Amino acid sequence: MNIVVLTGAGISAESGVPTFRDADGLWEGHRIEEVATPEAYDLSPVAVQRFYDARRKALAEVEPNPAHVALARLEEVLGDELFLVTQNIDDLHERGGSQRVAHMHGELLSALCRSCGGRSHWTDDLDDFPPCPRCGIPELRPDVVWFGEVPYGMDVIQGKLMRADLFVSIGTSGAVYPAAGFVQMAAACGARTLEINLEPSEGTHFFNEARHGRAGELVPIWVDEVLRPLGF
Ligand code: OAD
Repeated sequence: MNIVVLTGAGISAESGVPTFRDADGLWEGHRIEEVATPEAYDLSPVAVQRFYDARRKALAEVEPNPAHVALARLEEVLGDELFLVTQNIDDLHERGGSQRVAHMHGELLSALCRSCGGRSHWTDDLDDFPPCPRCGIPELRPDVVWFGEVPYGMDVIQGKLMRADLFVSIGTSGAVYPAAGFVQMAAACGARTLEINLEPSEGTHFFNEARHGRAGELVPIWVDEVLRPLGF
């Protein structure tokens, strides 16, 4: 059985990583356009670097929660039959034990060189504009996909959605495309679809089934349901 799981900020909420669309509509006190667009970077590169430097540092203070761990357990059993794609730029899936994670919106622990296009594993700050480890030119920016930029790996993701028997969306508001459209693509290709989210997402009516509550509780239950018939 081929399963595609899409995760969003809600899966990391119980770990202490703030989601994007809270009641005040701000991301850590900033409007998203101030920090997550190429225009914001062109206008205020140091401010944008510092914003992501702070997010990168904050990773050290959070831990994966039972939802991340349950998805790693699912991968351990299903191997390549599970495709995990996340909109999150944190590394909590990996620290929860997942080996293969498609980060469609990039990663905090990666730097992208605006000169050579190289992507380098990165744990330090970028606000002092260090040289690119590949080409030496000091043009490193956060390796995150900003509004107006193309998400990573869309060809692979589309192929997986077309072959999916089950598509599960976890902890995402369904407000940002193309990820918000994955449910319709998977359904059009014959997959059953399940939403797990604190509240109904914007696209909740597209799903065959919706379970509303905390990911840390509902994801381990769902994973048990998948694995029990397989003898695990
Ligand atoms: P959002 O902040 O838009 O939505 C998070 C969703 O998680 C909401 O629907 C919450 O109800 C839900 N949620 C909160 N706590 C939860 C919990 N404990 N268990 C389950 N669900 C919970 O985040 P995303 O949908 O991930 O893109 O946002 C998508 C994209 O918009 C992000 O990747 C980012 C942002 O702008 C870019 O930066 C390109």
